[in-house]
Amino acid sequence: MKKLKIAIVGTGSRGTFCFGQLFKKREDAEIVAFCDVNPVRAKAAAETLGISPNIYQTMEDMAEKETLDGVIITTPDCTHHKIAMKALNYGWNVLVDKPLATNVKDGKEVIETAKKSGLTIMIGFNLRHHGVLKRLKEIIDEGTLGKIFIAENREFYDGGRTYMSRWNRLYSVTGGLWIHKGSHDFDVFNWLLDFPKPVRVSSFAAVNVLTPENLPFEKEAGHEPGPSCNDCYYKEKCKDKFLLEDSDQPMWGKDAAAADGYLKNQCMYLSDKDTHDNGIAIVEYEGGIKVSHFECFIGARSDRTYTVVGDKAIADVSLHHRTITVTKRWTGEAITYTLPEETGGHGGADPSLVDAFCKVLRKEMEPNSTIEHGLLATAIGQAAEISRREHRMVEIEELFR
Ligand SMILES: NC(=O)c1ccc[n+]([C@@H]2O[C@H](COP(=O)([O-])OP(=O)(O)OC[C@H]3O[C@@H](n4cnc5c(N)ncnc54)[C@H](O)[C@@H]3O)[C@@H](O)[C@H]2O)c1
Repeated sequence: MKKLKIAIVGTGSRGTFCFGQLFKKREDAEIVAFCDVNPVRAKAAAETLGISPNIYQTMEDMAEKETLDGVIITTPDCTHHKIAMKALNYGWNVLVDKPLATNVKDGKEVIETAKKSGLTIMIGFNLRHHGVLKRLKEIIDEGTLGKIFIAENREFYDGGRTYMSRWNRLYSVTGGLWIHKGSHDFDVFNWLLDFPKPVRVSSFAAVNVLTPENLPFEKEAGHEPGPSCNDCYYKEKCKDKFLLEDSDQPMWGKDAAAADGYLKNQCMYLSDKDTHDNGIAIVEYEGGIKVSHFECFIGARSDRTYTVVGDKAIADVSLHHRTITVTKRWTGEAITYTLPEETGGHGGADPSLVDAFCKVLRKEMEPNSTIEHGLLATAIGQAAEISRREHRMVEIEELFR
């Protein structure tokens, strides 16, 4: 079998430790090229993986030299749409990690480019590949829950270190966490419910804990904390320290930072931020189905829980415990399914996503997470962002006018 030739654009955490690791293990594909604005990081990523792809700093240079079957885009969110359009214009199929784009306008441009190119774009909605959610989807599709009219999910993730220490904390880069993080969750609702049309969104969100007033230690006179955890005077006593280890230095240490000024572990309390550390968003779909999505990025718990209510039964789900409990209406009879552990990132979802992309490239299947699905999730996230900033309910239609 001819090996698929793959390039990764954006060789940071996700590009290297998810896609790099997974493609390296495959026999039917090889990573032939890395493209990253930071050549120090790209080289270090290749060395970390023990591979020797050609390394480029621009898509233009990569296009001059490479013939590719597929490109994986794992750069910061606001760059996705332009990089995706370039890749399509060069004749490459694309897997763009979520979100498709940080607003509807950019997402629509990518769709137009994709249509003209006749190529395929798949979105990295890996939760669709999670064993527990796949089983939940089967339970819903079999009709066990009956007609669904309300659902909720709650995401607990100790995400300060991820979201407030680097670019994710900035609205200008992500379009806000309702898009950056929430697009996963809004897409899961869309998919579980079989894509009813989302009509309107309301949300409330704020930074309530990860602020300078809430540093988890007493400051001493003459010693300011930060700027990064490794430099911080309080690094031994801080309960939220996020120290880079020696093994992180090649990709994230001073040499790599000298090339682009990227600090991975700024103090999450002191960093300037205009996204949220907790919030709730509510979506109403055509037909009156209501869903709520709760995000909490502070705390000791890491789980996504779901409750889906139909007129025949309720399903309660925990991704962390890998359980689904279906409780029947009237009888109260409850059945709990415990799904087996799976290896690989995001509870086994990442390897399955990569498998699906390889099958799409070989034309063995159509993409299950399409560019239109990517746009829909971005639209709901953008509506939630507008709602929380302008304190009003936002009609999805408004974004498409
Ligand atoms: N599906 C998931 O579960 C999941 C999980 C984590 C991250 N993500 C997504 O993956 C993407 C990458 O996140 P990350 O945590 O790996 O970020 P990261 O900061 O670790 O890596 C991003 C890399 O992109 C490079 N880069 C920046 N601008 C570029 C450009 N214009 N062209 C080429 N390279 C550029 C940076 O130098 C860096 O090496 C984001 O879009 C994020 O939303 C998805």
